[in-house]
Amino acid sequence: MTGHLRLGVNIDHVATIRNARGGDHPDPVRAAEIVARVGGDGITAHLREDRRHIRDSDLARIQAATSLPLNLEMAATEEMLEIALRHMPHAACIVPERREERTTEGGLDAAGQHNQLAPIVTRLSDAGIRVSLFIEPDPRQIEAAMRLRAPVVELHTGRAAPLWLGGDAAGIEAELKRIADAAALAAKNGIEPHAGHGLTYDNVQPIAAIPQLAELNIGHYLIGEAIFDGLEHAVRRMRDLMDAAR
Ligand code: PXP
Repeated sequence: MTGHLRLGVNIDHVATIRNARGGDHPDPVRAAEIVARVGGDGITAHLREDRRHIRDSDLARIQAATSLPLNLEMAATEEMLEIALRHMPHAACIVPERREERTTEGGLDAAGQHNQLAPIVTRLSDAGIRVSLFIEPDPRQIEAAMRLRAPVVELHTGRAAPLWLGGDAAGIEAELKRIADAAALAAKNGIEPHAGHGLTYDNVQPIAAIPQLAELNIGHYLIGEAIFDGLEHAVRRMRDLMDAAR
């Protein structure tokens, strides 16, 4: 299935900087417009329970400002379900959420939480929202996603990132194999595999080379690089690295 690998840009951390001063600058909507202009394929935004970055009012403004598909990351709660159904994003990526965590720390336990997830997946799907489950690259979790009839899984790549920093070649190889095997298993069973978390210029290429992957969602590193080189440049450079790896 090697072909165009979509790049979803997570703009949460533009909102993190905005919220540091409580005002309206920098506006994540402006970031979404730039992503659209330079060839990003989608906007990803995580509306957290504590609203630490994206605010409720950002969602409609992002949707109005660009025609790019919005991928709403959300916890599996009634509150978030109601917000998703009101805003009707193109996709909803269900993530685990703990208030005290700095960022999403791992994949959803789709196997252990079947009963809690099933009604949420069904109601989102019935409304026409494409559901994605953010899971570990683990065959048990893919099988659970199949039982939940999720059309998409996003494989957690965040465990690979520290291995790169430490130069742990054997660990990197093992983690890449886990991700590649999970992507192949998902695709074989009719689930579209995506991947994301912790991706950088240095580690994106071996992930982008996994042929079954259809989309990567990348945020923190791109927004960090944007401080030095501008968001246009950062998105273009990531796009070029992804294309070169395919
Ligand atoms: N995918 C999911 C499901 C996430 O929760 C996040 C972080 O919000 C990302 C991708 C992007 O991760 P990063 O900001 O590390 O690039």
